[in-house]
Amino acid sequence: MSGGGERDPITGHMTTGHEWNGIKELNTPVPKAVWFFLITTFLFSVVWWVLMPAWPLGSTYTKGLLGIDQRQVVAADLKQAAEQAPAWVATVTDTDYAAIQADPALMDQVRRHGAVLFGDNCAACHGVGGSGGPGYPALAAGSWLWGGSPEALAETIRVGINSDHPETRISQMPAFGRDQMLTRPDIIAVLAHVRSLSGAGPASAAGQELFTANCAACHGEEGRGMVEMGAPNLTDATWIYGGDEQTIFATVFNGRQGHMPRWDQRLSDLDRKVLALYVADLAAGGKHAGP
Ligand code: HEC
Ligand code: HEC
Repeated sequence: MSGGGERDPITGHMTTGHEWNGIKELNTPVPKAVWFFLITTFLFSVVWWVLMPAWPLGSTYTKGLLGIDQRQVVAADLKQAAEQAPAWVATVTDTDYAAIQADPALMDQVRRHGAVLFGDNCAACHGVGGSGGPGYPALAAGSWLWGGSPEALAETIRVGINSDHPETRISQMPAFGRDQMLTRPDIIAVLAHVRSLSGAGPASAAGQELFTANCAACHGEEGRGMVEMGAPNLTDATWIYGGDEQTIFATVFNGRQGHMPRWDQRLSDLDRKVLALYVADLAAGGKHAGP
């Protein structure tokens, strides 16, 4: 680029010798700031390369003079976190349900951590704060299928309902219409009785008789439900699927087999214990139930 140039009279710089229609290109030097920047970044990269892990060499790598290893950093952080595992974790692990429930400080931890666990794992089906939704029981309502003691709740959470756990709770509301155990008029009569149980309609003698013969074995003579069968109380205002005529008809005609996942493989013993206490507390109307 140098040869053939001449000095430009105005700027005093040499030209490159290239000329386009009388316009000549000045051969100006690279600005100092650019040189400075290039040299500093180069020097920085050399220093960094010497100090820090840099080049992969097959199964190993250049470790750098500082010997910094992100894996060791993470391992050290984890170890520190484990050492700092709060005292309540050990206490909740070793204390039985009743004693935890009687300890306000521990219950504060249960509510705080239970709310997060519940939000992450359960609220998608059971609703925020256990409010429930069609097909998903309202856990905050305290109208239990399988029992509301923390022990019973922990077992339900561990094995699930109609899940693939070998000890799963099994819930079978038969399909009286589809399987031709009851005729359509019978179903309509028995559903009138079911509605009358919660005060939603007049009593029906024929319905009562059908109920005793077909339903009482699971739901109880008075329709109050049976935790041994996972059969819901039909006398209260809480419904899984719905208490209107159409929904009850569909329930009795087609049956119901709700599915609740097992959590033994997905949540630790501690997390399930916290959740059992949290759900029991939700139903008891826990005062500081958290977010
Ligand atoms: C995929 C949806 C789903 C998820 C997620 C889920 N559940 Fe359930 N759960 C159900 C259904 C459906 C039932 C009712 C089954 C039935 O009708 O027999 C149920 C029932 C229950 C019961 C029994 C209530 C009673 O009355 O005895 C408890 C307790 C429970 N769930 C707790 C939990 C907890 C705690 C979590 C989070 C770890 C959770 N569930 C996550 C669907 C779900
Ligand atoms: C073998 C036991 C069994 C028998 C017999 C039985 N049920 Fe059920 N029923 C259940 C179970 C278990 C559930 C809960 C199903 C679920 O959620 O998975 C249920 C649920 C229901 C529901 C839904 C309640 C809600 O909250 O939405 C209604 C309504 C009902 N049964 C009515 C009847 C009537 C009426 C009969 C007699 C014609 C009857 N059941 C006979 C076990 C039984």
